[in-house]
Amino acid sequence: MCGIIGILGKVQVAPRLVDALKRLEYRGYDSSGIATINEGHLSRRRAEGKLRCLEEVLEHSPISGTTGIGHTRWATHGAPTVLNAHPHIAGKVAVVHNGIIENYLELRAKIARQGAEIASDTDSEVVAHLVNAELGQGKAPENAVADVLPRLKGAFSLVFAFEGCDDMLIGARKGSPLAVGHGDGEMFLGSDAIALSPFTDRVTYLEEGDWVVLSHSGVAIRDADNQIVARPEARSSVSATLMDKGNYRHFMAKEIHEQPEVLGHTLSRYLDYGSKKTHVPGAEKIDFASLNRLQIAACGTAYYAAVVAKYWFEKYARLPVEIDIASEFRYREAPIGERDCALFISQSGETADTLASLRYCKQNGAVIAAVVNVPESTIAREADVIFPTIAGPEIGVASTKAFTCQLAVLASLAIQAGRARGTLSEEDAKGLVEQLAAIPNHAVKALRLEADIQKLAHSLSRASNVLYLGRGTNFPLALEGALKLKELSYIHAEGYAAGELKHGPIALIDENMPVIVIAPHDASFEKTLSNMQEVAARDGRIILVTDQAGADASDGVAENTIILAEMPSLIAPIIYALPVQMIAYHTAVFMGTDVDQPRNLAKSVTVE
Ligand code: M6R
Repeated sequence: MCGIIGILGKVQVAPRLVDALKRLEYRGYDSSGIATINEGHLSRRRAEGKLRCLEEVLEHSPISGTTGIGHTRWATHGAPTVLNAHPHIAGKVAVVHNGIIENYLELRAKIARQGAEIASDTDSEVVAHLVNAELGQGKAPENAVADVLPRLKGAFSLVFAFEGCDDMLIGARKGSPLAVGHGDGEMFLGSDAIALSPFTDRVTYLEEGDWVVLSHSGVAIRDADNQIVARPEARSSVSATLMDKGNYRHFMAKEIHEQPEVLGHTLSRYLDYGSKKTHVPGAEKIDFASLNRLQIAACGTAYYAAVVAKYWFEKYARLPVEIDIASEFRYREAPIGERDCALFISQSGETADTLASLRYCKQNGAVIAAVVNVPESTIAREADVIFPTIAGPEIGVASTKAFTCQLAVLASLAIQAGRARGTLSEEDAKGLVEQLAAIPNHAVKALRLEADIQKLAHSLSRASNVLYLGRGTNFPLALEGALKLKELSYIHAEGYAAGELKHGPIALIDENMPVIVIAPHDASFEKTLSNMQEVAARDGRIILVTDQAGADASDGVAENTIILAEMPSLIAPIIYALPVQMIAYHTAVFMGTDVDQPRNLAKSVTVE
């Protein structure tokens, strides 16, 4: 789960490699490195830590050349150290790798027996040694790579540079994405169009098993059978502008505050405000009326959006919905067929487990739909129909605006499905559309609670454990709240359905345990209030996120109360997400953690 770049250019390549890596940092940021070829000579610089550490190394010890490769790493095999950072060099070959070489132990043992000196703990280094050994047999670089690729098991995208070859880069993909960029007398390889965006918008996406030889004069793509193939060139719409934080301290803060606007953009794609109807482009590709079942799979926050959506599709469209964590679904051998629709939710559109689940459902004949934020992503390209979120680039590792926009899309789709299945009257559907249309205004009001939340976060930052509770569509918000707090502040947190409290988690309650209860004054409020009483009776510290009616009804049981405006229950999980995000954000700020790039994480999880 790393970012890779290769440039066959006309000007000094090192700064261009670093620029491309900055755009790829969302794939990993624990170490980085570049290698260049200058008049046939291979040089390398690597650094542990964020890209600025590599920049410092390059400042003191620059390298020249117009051809080079680069890598930003999220460690899978081997700690994030300089020795494990890419590129890996063996003899005359340098390689950068994204993915996992599953048979690396066996390969490593073999090359060690043959006398190779292995310098790192990575799976990637073996690839360089294998190719170098083939070069040692007198093979040309392309023949050496062609002979090694079939020996690699697992998922990979690779870019190779060779000593003595200023005019050649070789790339290969199997299971991990790799794109070719066509410049003006220059050629590029990158994990995605984002990396290539400063150099070119002419992009060719390699297909599974493809490998490619680049030179200044062009590109030769071969498939897994080594046959020359033509792959289409597309125009990428990815902006070359590096995102900035504006006046915000962190991207996450900016992204939280963008929500009224991006929710408005997203909803205006799916709602016709004049007729008060949903208008979901692409929904006609799903025969909702005769659909057997909707299968949703996703990971992390996107999975919690799926949990909310299940409530909506079942309630409004009376459509049976199965939801799965994609890493489980892909191996579950779930029965799925032509009368099912499989829906995948992903901000990045590159999450490996979600993509594998999509491919499983495709093979089994289901209609494939995707809710994605990156329209040129692999998931978007492989789906039969996409329902984009118009959230704009999400840079902070913690998903915020993508989540609420996913919910806005899913709510619109559930209403559309309800109409198509005849389970929602036109009048009821119009009422729901009106409720969705009010989301941006409610989001603006929710953001005004920030100062109160900041105070609360100060006391939360002293906790070691936090419990989140919610019912109905607010139960997934409890899960999401706990995930946000964990990933940003490193405080241990768990989310539970409030009704589950007495089945175990109540044993954790004491005076040191903050319990964040997400409970608008809806049909299930009374039940949640009983759960709060149970917590209070055991000296638990309750933080209640509710509306005025909920605050009044809870009558002092909570130590702190965050009061939102009253709103229909359909939109509550979207609006209540904002205080939940702000709680995690401000707690993390108090604790001084790296909010936008928390430890051990990456924005896009492209390994399983
Ligand atoms: O790009 P995706 O939406 O497929 O990513 C899924 C998860 O990796 C992601 O939501 C992750 O859980 C976030 N860090 C949560 O904030």
